[in-house]
Amino acid sequence: MLVLGIESSCDETGVALYDQHLGLVAHTLYSQVETHARYGGVVPELASRDHIQKLLPLIESLLAQASCTLSDIDGIAYTAGPGLAGALLVGAAFAHSLALARHLPCIGIHHMEGHLLSPLLEVEQPPLPFLALLVSGGHTLLVKVSALGQYQVLGESLDDAAGEAFDKTAKLMGLPYPGGPRLAQLAQLGDATRYPLPRPLLHRQDLNFSFSGLKTATAQLIQKVDCQQAQVQADVAASFQAAVVDVLTAKTLQAARLHGLKHVVVSGGVSANTRLRWQLQQGLQVIGGRAYYPRLEFCTDNGAMIAFAGCLRLAAGQHNQHDFSVKARWSLDELPSL
Ligand code: KG4
Ligand code: ZN
Repeated sequence: MLVLGIESSCDETGVALYDQHLGLVAHTLYSQVETHARYGGVVPELASRDHIQKLLPLIESLLAQASCTLSDIDGIAYTAGPGLAGALLVGAAFAHSLALARHLPCIGIHHMEGHLLSPLLEVEQPPLPFLALLVSGGHTLLVKVSALGQYQVLGESLDDAAGEAFDKTAKLMGLPYPGGPRLAQLAQLGDATRYPLPRPLLHRQDLNFSFSGLKTATAQLIQKVDCQQAQVQADVAASFQAAVVDVLTAKTLQAARLHGLKHVVVSGGVSANTRLRWQLQQGLQVIGGRAYYPRLEFCTDNGAMIAFAGCLRLAAGQHNQHDFSVKARWSLDELPSL
């Protein structure tokens, strides 16, 4: 079974072909970063328009890359949520139109299930059950994965997602969009102990996160210090990053201990963060566990994770009717098991 996957939940148009037996056949991506850069953030209407313009040429180039034609495709998967409603609708409408025209099964995939399963595209795979730390621009989630498709959300952010906190803080520091990765880069040159910042909810028993207070504390710090000085700016970035990473690491280890899970999948844009990777590795080593990541290009949004999740669900006989809808909000707990 060859599945075409389409990702269009935010500012990346990703398409991929995944074969049930051969694995990932081809994938390609168009990033809208330049479109949104001048506005300092994603403009939803522009994102939708760009997805409309790019989807067809991207799929044509994907098929050419794989030496395939439309008639080789056995099923279609698209991101049905969560995300920007307009952007999701572009992918959903495209997927269902193509499926209808070619009499193919079509399935809407949960974007975070895509991220959660993305390390399974790699050679080294986590054995089940495992814990997943999903850290992106829109979500911060700790999920217990008992089996593929069986997800229990253990904790989540009560306000800003970790990536969102990186992006908003970067903007406050005057860093160009997209801010998160730039802040992380700058942090590598800084002293993380120079400015003590709060570690929200660190000592609470539950597994939830909160990053908006940390962002406010960092905003107040930025007003007090001279961020024009390169070293000060790097130290602020490093201090902020250390606070986020301390909380993410501590809560992940707490969840691992509480639920007796040693294998941790880490995915979503923030999983590219090197300090997070290093600190998690140190912590997991102590409990005899380890972390599993997707390859770097699949840490952020991509079509491959949607094609893969879609292939699993279509192969299990699941599909949607063509009277589709998208879900700007959608909990992983609601997904049918596989
Ligand atoms: O998963 P993703 O591509 O999109 C969403 O589904 O949100 O994640 C994007 C997020 C952005 O907030 C970005 O700032 C963050 O991931 N990000 C990083 C790093 N690379 C990307 N945050 C911290 N350190 C990084 N190296
Ligand atoms: Zn994402």
